[in-house]
Amino acid sequence: MTDSTVQHSPKKIAVLISGNGSNLQAIIDDQAKTSDLYVIALVISNRPDAYGLERAKKAGIATLCIDHTDYASREEFDTQMQLQLDQAKIDLVVLAGFMRILTQGFTQHFLGKMLNIHPSLLPKYTGLHTHKRALEAGDTEHGLSIHFVTPELDGGPVILQAKVAIENDETEQSLQQKVHQQEHIAYPLVVRWFCEERIQLIDNRVVYFGQQLQQPLLLAEQTSD
Ligand code: GRF
Repeated sequence: MTDSTVQHSPKKIAVLISGNGSNLQAIIDDQAKTSDLYVIALVISNRPDAYGLERAKKAGIATLCIDHTDYASREEFDTQMQLQLDQAKIDLVVLAGFMRILTQGFTQHFLGKMLNIHPSLLPKYTGLHTHKRALEAGDTEHGLSIHFVTPELDGGPVILQAKVAIENDETEQSLQQKVHQQEHIAYPLVVRWFCEERIQLIDNRVVYFGQQLQQPLLLAEQTSD
């Protein structure tokens, strides 16, 4: 077999959720279209009532609930998650509305192999209530960021952002909906890039097609891809 005929075997991804799982659904739908690129080997929720678990089961994906309230400390909870992810030989961990702060040990273990989606144009508005904060600040645009996860909360190097305009009559709910729509396009795209080995984390910088990114990519520039 020559180099040009070498095929990458499909990457095994795990999606971590805490709630609705609409981003998980977008990735499930994308996977059905690009089936040889990656498999969703496992969905983990820290909450037993997360609707995303139903979505996964409906798609025939293995699910696991690791209820954080069953663990005495953050470390013990993360250790259990790490064990399960390692056992499943996961290549990429995708945080999709996973509402737990992760320990340094966990983030180091999966450094360069874990992505998060955050509903703001980072570095603006880390943490919660991002739509409300953007509205209150009188911003004219808002959006989302997909980044590699590092020990710093919502602080890892950003790969891709998508922007939405904030209109005069914008409400928190309408803004959230607009951002969500973009999330469902952007997240599967970045998962594919990772699985195609287009993006890497090297020396705490995003490398895209072998070039260090000087600034995050913007979704509008990528839609024809
Ligand atoms: C998304 O807005 C994402 O940016 C944030 O949590 C939300 C998850 O939504 N991290 P869903 O559970 O995927 O519908």
